[in-house]
Amino acid sequence: MTTALHERVLIIDFGSQVTKLIARRVRESGVYCEVHPFNKITDELLSDYAPGAVILSGGPNSVGQTKSPRIHDAVFKLGVPLLGICYGQMAMVEQLGGSAEGADEREFGRAELEIVKDSPLFSGIGTPGSKHTVWMSHGDRVNALPEGFEIIAKSPNAPFAVSQDSARKFYNVMFHPEVAHTPIGAQLLKNFTHKIAGLKGDWTMAAFKDEAIAAVRKQVGDGKVICGLSGGVDSSVVAVLLNEAIGDQLTCVFVDTGMMRKNEAEEVISLFSTHYNINLIHVDAQDKFLDLLEGVSDPEQKRKIIGKTFIDLFEIQAKNIGGAKFLAQGTLYPDVIESVSFDGGPSVTIKSHHNVGGLPERMDMALVEPLRELFKDEVRDLGRELGLDPAFVERHPFPGPGLAIRCPGEITKEKLDLLREADAIYLSQIKKHNLYNEIWQAFAVILPVKTVGVMGDSRTYEHVLALRAVTSSDGMTADYYPFSHEFLGETATRIINEVQGVNRVVYDITSKPPGTIEWE
Ligand code: XMP
Repeated sequence: MTTALHERVLIIDFGSQVTKLIARRVRESGVYCEVHPFNKITDELLSDYAPGAVILSGGPNSVGQTKSPRIHDAVFKLGVPLLGICYGQMAMVEQLGGSAEGADEREFGRAELEIVKDSPLFSGIGTPGSKHTVWMSHGDRVNALPEGFEIIAKSPNAPFAVSQDSARKFYNVMFHPEVAHTPIGAQLLKNFTHKIAGLKGDWTMAAFKDEAIAAVRKQVGDGKVICGLSGGVDSSVVAVLLNEAIGDQLTCVFVDTGMMRKNEAEEVISLFSTHYNINLIHVDAQDKFLDLLEGVSDPEQKRKIIGKTFIDLFEIQAKNIGGAKFLAQGTLYPDVIESVSFDGGPSVTIKSHHNVGGLPERMDMALVEPLRELFKDEVRDLGRELGLDPAFVERHPFPGPGLAIRCPGEITKEKLDLLREADAIYLSQIKKHNLYNEIWQAFAVILPVKTVGVMGDSRTYEHVLALRAVTSSDGMTADYYPFSHEFLGETATRIINEVQGVNRVVYDITSKPPGTIEWE
């Protein structure tokens, strides 16, 4: 859809967990890009996509391994600038005649980079002699450069940390410019796309909106579309976009799983049915989900059951409305990348995301996924473009499986009700203290453990509640939010006093990685 209209960068993925961040940084600088797995790069893809520049991601492999991933040879003959990052760097070096091998000293985490030669890659960043913090993660390192390359920066354990062949416009960096821990990274990537590849940055949400609407119209023709609304930002943006694109051909289905937050069901119905006048079917499936989840404690099983039941219910609704041919979903780019591991490729599945993992093969509706190429912040921009209320667009993300994955162990109605109450108090505290927009996501988790407490003169034996709040720019990495002790104390007191059944509150201070944002 977009490729024909915009300048574009191709990101070749070698399986790094942070490849998506490269895409985010490139998009942030206004350049459209797509990530494609290394083993799916063909001459045809290269000529159809016609990138203005190519970035080779990092990956878990070592170039010394017999079957290590290779860069499709035609990439070197495209005549466009290349940037190799970490594994991508080593693969480029090896394939062009240099060498890389296991280093005695590994570098993980922060390292100090020293620029040794002027380069357009460092434009606005620094000159020879200047030092910069970068984030490394490598066991191998380059020890001989291919002909035509020269060193432009070094680090204590990577003497060839950054190199260039300015005639061919091939650049290599040992560190990860895409992560937030490399403060110069965003500028470096922008230098590569704008200064070296000469791209101008013509990717905007206003343009995307029009293209997405046109693409939906083209895909569905006069067919009917059914759209699952969860109340979250993503599915809401899809619904409003589709409403604008195809109006009456759209029917939204809101499945009340019983795993929603307090008052959420009512809010969804009033926004879409009353405000937007969208055809909305409300399916009350609370008992069904509770029955199916009874006795299930395994997180992946919960996710699969919920995903499958959603799709089953959609199919029934689709039949009821007289043969919808299409199912629309708010799948985002990170969902797609995190859930799908490419054939024989090195990426691992951390969690089966609701939107992708539960899809049964037998589904006989085609998918409409207009946000499939977008990151969360881009979805918010698109929501604003579509005129959604900014307060709504800025809502924290809410996962498809809902409170089910915030209730580790067995799910019961009693636990869900406690969780809903406590979560509502927690969020009201955050809003009262004006912290909502500083936080990527905040929620409560009810733990499968009871502890002893004392209230008044009596012994209590009740649930423990964990509070989670993280900052993040994309949900892929995250830090815990540093609430003040006063805030935490006040919030814990309110929850324990106001929610009967909870007698202890703890705060989760794990970052991602090594934790994930949700507990399951
Ligand atoms: P994790 O827990 O993997 O979460 O660090 C990253 C982000 O994804 C959200 N999340 C989901 N979103 N369907 C969704 O639409 C899901 O199945 C799902 N699981 C996690 C999570 O809330 C966080 O924002």
